[in-house]
Amino acid sequence: MSTLIHDIGELFAADGIRQDAAVVVDDGRIAWIGDSADAPAADRAVDVGGRAVIPAFVDSHTHLIFAGDRSAEFAARMTGTPYDGGGIAVTRAATVGASNDELRALLAGRIEESRAQGTGTIEIKSGYGLSVEQEARLLRIAREFTDETTYLGAHVVPPETGRDEYVRLVTGEMLAACAPYAKWIDVFCEPHSAHAFDGDEAREVLTAGRVAGLGLRVHGGQLGYGPGVQLAVELGAASVDHCTYLSDEDVAALAGSDTVATLLPGVEFSTRSPYPDARRLIDAGVQLALATDCNPGTCYSNSMPFMIAVAVREMGMTPHEALSAATAGAAKSLQRNDIGTIAVGQAADVTVLDAPTYLHLAYRPGVPIARRLTLCSASVGC
Ligand code: NIG
Ligand code: FE
Repeated sequence: MSTLIHDIGELFAADGIRQDAAVVVDDGRIAWIGDSADAPAADRAVDVGGRAVIPAFVDSHTHLIFAGDRSAEFAARMTGTPYDGGGIAVTRAATVGASNDELRALLAGRIEESRAQGTGTIEIKSGYGLSVEQEARLLRIAREFTDETTYLGAHVVPPETGRDEYVRLVTGEMLAACAPYAKWIDVFCEPHSAHAFDGDEAREVLTAGRVAGLGLRVHGGQLGYGPGVQLAVELGAASVDHCTYLSDEDVAALAGSDTVATLLPGVEFSTRSPYPDARRLIDAGVQLALATDCNPGTCYSNSMPFMIAVAVREMGMTPHEALSAATAGAAKSLQRNDIGTIAVGQAADVTVLDAPTYLHLAYRPGVPIARRLTLCSASVGC
């Protein structure tokens, strides 16, 4: 069935911003884009009443599958206690203690929140299981909700296991159990956290993941300068995420690579830390993505509009750059060329703004103006 979406006040299309536009969707794909006045007939029509239409956000970095609450840790941080990854153990205990159905219900609720704020595609990492069975369980459940699943057994070293022994597990038995349910492997490469992994350990994890057929992602440069960014570029990772602390060499390496730098401004907001310098990266020619990093420790927000507003206000990005990073840039970080842009042939995954222009995403922070367009109860575009 074809659907005409018309009376679009402003369309954030791949080839530029159009006024008074219309889009025809057929079989889940964008089949036609043009002026509302020239729109062809379709089986049915959706009038968006002069509102702005943008690509659905691509949230390319989340830790959405977990149980438990760490709001007290957040409150302590607001009065000066620094973040070091130690609280991950608290979430692990609650997550391991939750049933499959409890985890499913928590995850489904968070995904519904994301959709209601305009997000289409969502990446979900494991990392709160830290044993063979628990990591595989988290990925199996996450896979019920998205194809963009990431094995993050190398989140932190659990207290019951020695470092070397744990790296062997993550690169051996745990990897074998998790790879069938994962597209990506990730590692928290952070010498500034006693709980996370150094450059040599991270290299072992990523290399083993690549041999198992997984794409590579890295948490790097979150708490201080470190080897994560250079390692990601050297190994051809699709994305290196956080990038808050970057040396000139890191920036040059990123600029000369296909590795996307994914910035996660909700983390700096929620840990009261300095923001990454997006302008420096853009001026150097680095491809940027924006994502939420939604997790119970460093940023319990799954609002992409909020990330855009903070990136514009605090990180030197224009509204156009921030929206592009939250859509096309994040799609690139997932090596997806079917989402994140509005163009003929792309997946019909779009978000309607209760606003005349995309500028309102940053101009009206905290106001719920974005909603993913659902064209039938089952999926977009049917
Ligand atoms: O991306 N830094 C590592 N992992 C998460 C935080 C996880 C947690 O504290 O629960 C992050 O910030
Ligand atoms: Fe993260």
